[in-house]
Amino acid sequence: SVLEMEVEQINKGNYEHYMQKEIHEQPESLKTTMRGRLIRGGSCKAKTVLLGGLKDHLKTIRRSRRIVFIGCGTSYNAALAARPILEELSGVPVTMEIASDLLDRQGPIYREDTAVFVSQSGETADTLLALEYALENGALCVGITNTVGSAIARHTHCGIHINAGCEIGVASTKAYTSQIVVMAMLALAIGGDTISNQARREAIIDGLFDLPNNVREVLKLDQEMKDLAKLLVAEQSLLVFGRGYNYATALEGALKVKEVALMHSEGILAGEMKHGPLALVDENLPIVVIATRDACFSKQQSVIQQLHARKGRLIVMCSKGDANAVGPGGSCRVIEVPQVEDCLQPVVNIIPLQLLAYHLTVLRGFNVDQPRNLAKSVTTQ
Ligand code: G6P
Repeated sequence: SVLEMEVEQINKGNYEHYMQKEIHEQPESLKTTMRGRLIRGGSCKAKTVLLGGLKDHLKTIRRSRRIVFIGCGTSYNAALAARPILEELSGVPVTMEIASDLLDRQGPIYREDTAVFVSQSGETADTLLALEYALENGALCVGITNTVGSAIARHTHCGIHINAGCEIGVASTKAYTSQIVVMAMLALAIGGDTISNQARREAIIDGLFDLPNNVREVLKLDQEMKDLAKLLVAEQSLLVFGRGYNYATALEGALKVKEVALMHSEGILAGEMKHGPLALVDENLPIVVIATRDACFSKQQSVIQQLHARKGRLIVMCSKGDANAVGPGGSCRVIEVPQVEDCLQPVVNIIPLQLLAYHLTVLRGFNVDQPRNLAKSVTTQ
């Protein structure tokens, strides 16, 4: 009806699509996610994290034998992005489960486990069934959802709300970045304060405070990503290489491109390049390589060299000012992004890829907010 159309226009504000609106909302949604949870007091007050919904369970989580992340789709990818920092700060082994796969295998879950269920909707059937399974097996179950009162929020023992605000586009964008931030805060909360990790913790907390501004900065690449989309619009396939903190960025970037732009895309762990993907490389297939500064940078530089040697058609995402370090003499197209604390870099790095997927979709004439065959929340198995 006309009324419904008008309401929709109001909800979208000045944007043409919900996905576009939700991408551009991220500086604000991230702020909302962190509101009241980060404390950076005066000189004598240490920087800390407060997660009300977890405080009675932190001891148990710290003592658990492992932390297992369980989710589907983008929520799984968000957990994968947070895994390294959780391992580093907690010292507890962290394993990953796609909910359906855990159920297919009836994989072992123990009383000594902390199972963390990550879900935007809080209603995904597979994740919910995995939760029932973990409850039966006696694990401590933690929920990370964007929907207060959702099934997963209700059935878990404790949890953290993402507070990213309502997400309407079927392809998750702002919920993804807020999930990563929530799990980084979870890592800080579980990690506890020791003298040896104090500087690292403070750097992460400062990085969290600065994140909305850095996200605002990276959103300025919108036009550049539109231009890149024009260049790639007729391609059949796009590969995305990442590793370390940004392995998840590769998977999530490729997921965005395939689900909305309906273009084949694959996220590849760069460390596996020689074990298969290298055979695909030629002068036609576009490849995005994520090579922002972190402990894996020199390894990614060597990946770039090897792809170059095979005449790969490279688009390199690098830290601002690094264009020459990744593609000497303008030898490849670069996407320069602001550098942030390494564990928060995935929040910044996914944004150009969200924009790319968005523009590719519009240029290809597909439905951005409701991709063919997909649903926002998959409540059937
Ligand atoms: C569907 C949606 C995805 C989402 C996934 C998991 O496939 O299209 O955007 O990532 O479900 O949903 P959840 O609500 O559990 O995060």
